[in-house]
Parts: sequence; structure tokens; C-alpha cells
Amino acid sequence: MGRLMRRFWIPALLSEELPENDGAPVRVRLLGEDLVAYRNTTGAVGLVAENCPHRGASLFFGRNEEAGLRCVYHGWKFDTSGACVDMPNEPPESNFKHKVNVSAYPTRERGGAVWAYLGPKELEPELPDLEWSLVPDSHRYIGKNYQENNWAQAVEGGIDSSHSSFLHRWLDPEARAKVTQPWLKTAAAEGRFKAQDTSPRFMLKPTDFGLLIAALRTVPDHGFFWRMTPLYLPFYTTIPTHLEPGQPYAGHAWVPIDDEHCWTYTVTWHPERPLTNEEVEWWMWQKGVADNGPGYKPTRNKGNDYLIDREMQRTVTFTGITSSGTEDRAVQETMGPIYDRTKEHLGTSDTAIIGFRRLLLQLARALQEGKEPYAAFHGDAYRVRSASVMVGHNASYDEVVELARERLTVPA
Ligand code: FES
Ligand SMILES: [Fe+2]
Repeated sequence: MGRLMRRFWIPALLSEELPENDGAPVRVRLLGEDLVAYRNTTGAVGLVAENCPHRGASLFFGRNEEAGLRCVYHGWKFDTSGACVDMPNEPPESNFKHKVNVSAYPTRERGGAVWAYLGPKELEPELPDLEWSLVPDSHRYIGKNYQENNWAQAVEGGIDSSHSSFLHRWLDPEARAKVTQPWLKTAAAEGRFKAQDTSPRFMLKPTDFGLLIAALRTVPDHGFFWRMTPLYLPFYTTIPTHLEPGQPYAGHAWVPIDDEHCWTYTVTWHPERPLTNEEVEWWMWQKGVADNGPGYKPTRNKGNDYLIDREMQRTVTFTGITSSGTEDRAVQETMGPIYDRTKEHLGTSDTAIIGFRRLLLQLARALQEGKEPYAAFHGDAYRVRSASVMVGHNASYDEVVELARERLTVPA
């Protein structure tokens, strides 16, 4: 699975973590490897192994100067390609420096993130054309939270529409509509619809980018409420948007730090206009980014039971935990870093989870047999949105498909 992950470009850190040329390097742990990222004199981002190839001092303490990172122990200096460009403690006539390099990975910057490719050089894939990564900076907010569990365990929350009837329920949907996103006219209705049908039927469609997951709820007097979630390989989702047209989109990436930790990247964007301050602030609150401490570590965490408020749980929300991002993290982290899946009891509402696991296993096996993942080499396959649609009880199948196609397609 690690080899499969290394076939894709993946977000390694936020651009904001390296705010200036020749600024302080930062530690980046990614796919179980300890790395250091730095922005050099020209603005290019280097991503190199943390330990200096000389005798292993940490390059985190390095001097970032004149287009390279210099180890503070004996002054060896490396450029972003990993080449040793200076070895001042060896005799000037020595050519030893040409024989040494530090492991370095290629990087690109797009969508407020620094992307890295950790796979074989000759197989460099395409960046995924996720819509949020293509819009102007003003149209997007991106942040992240440290999360203490396996990345797949977190993705499984992102594709599980069933839990939105419970984990994120407000006992009074009108109250939610007043407190969060007061500008959204359909919020209370959507909350009611999810509470009215708590056992959605799931349908999956394998696609070029991964999986399209549809959850169908029946709402008396209204019709069928469809929520469609794309799962883009290997770990991105877009949340089904609101029924009210013109609202921003939002989504996630769950990037493996190692087997037992991941970064929950959270992003919201509007394809056509800048986000308002209200929208950004609300999203930061909603995802728990607003109350992160240093190192993007949430202050509501496993160690303090996410500051659960039992009175709030009795009277206001299903959980008594503030913000839906924190609710998600609370249930995902407290399973343990990697839950023993032989102890699970999967039902029909877990159809998407089963489909996701099968797809990953199938791709990992295919890779073992030499078959590369299609999505990694087709960035344009990622030009797909999420959708929520309400259709009348007597809508035809074709009408639904047509509506879905229209909503899911990113205009060229
Ligand atoms: S350990 Fe880095 S230069 Fe010696
Ligand atoms: Fe959730």
C-alpha cells in the first residue's frame, strides 16, 4: 500500500509553512519518512531526508542560504535536487562532494500546498486537477489538523454519509441554522431530511479518479435526497454541497504521516468568486482549525476527551462536542490508531467503506503485478465535483442521471 501511495503526488505541507525565501526549514514526516522542507533563495521548495548523509546530523537545524541547505555540523551544503554543492571540511582538491547526495524528492506548489512525489523517478505522475487546487488563492481556504490515527480510518469517515444523520445532528435543526451558517437558507431543511431518513441506500460507481458514492434518502412530501461524494485516489473527498445553489464547495485530504498518524487537510473554495471572511471563519471553526495550537495540533483532543460537554449533549447536539471536524476526529481517533477490522460488523450502510477497501486492495495487488494506477497519470480525471440534489418522488432514472452529470462536472 505504501508503494501504491508513492505513485501519486501528495500534499506534503502548506505553502504558508514556508513563508519566505531562505526562511526557517521545517520538519515534515510523510509516509513514515522524516524529511526537512525549505524554501531556497529563488523560492523553490526543497524536500530532503532529515539526516545529513555525512554523519546524520539533522538538517532541520541547517542554514538556509544561497540556494541550498547547509548542515550546521560540518558545513556540507545541498541543493533542492539533493546534490552536495559544497563540502568545506574536505581538501579543495577532493572530488568527494560529487559522490555524495542527500535523498531529495521533487516538489510542486499549487492550491496553497506544496506537493511532493516520493515514487520512482522514471514514473513521475501528473498533479491531480482537483478544482480547489486550480482556483485563484482568493477563492480558496486551506488548513490542516494533526490527527492521531491511520489515514484510511479517516477517509472512511469522509465517505460515510450515514453518520451525518447522527454524529453531526443538532437536536433542533432550526437552532443549528441560527448558530452556524445563518446565511444558508436550506441548512435547517437538510438537517431535517437527514434526520427523517437515517438509513440511506448507497450506490457506488468505479470511476477514472476513484469512486463515486451516492447516498439516497427518502423524504416524505419532498422526494429523494441524493448526496454524491467523489472519493479521488488515493485520499481526497469533496463533501456533498448544500441544496442551495451558489454555495462554496469543501473537501478533505487525509495524508499519511505514518501508519498511525495523518494530516487532515481541509479546504473550502468557490469556483467563481472570492470567499467571504464569514465563509472562511465559519469553515475554520467548523473544522476545528480555528482552535489549533502550535504545529496544527488540535486543542480539543483525545487527551481531554475533546472537551465533551454532557449538558450540551443532552440539550443541543448529538455529541456535546463542538464543531463537526472535532466530532469526526473524536470518533476516528478513539477507535485506536489502527482499528482491528476483524472485530467490525459491517452493514449495508457501510457499502462505501467496503467499496473503498476493495478498491485500494485491488490497486495494490495490480501494482504488484506491474499495473500502474490510472488516476496517478491522468490529472484531468480529477475534474469532478460533489453534489446534493432533491428530486421528486416520480423523477425518472434518466432525469436523476442528467441532473447529477450536470452538477458533478467541472466546467472546462
Ligand atoms: S553531519 Fe552534516 S556535515 Fe557532518
Ligand atoms: Fe463527519
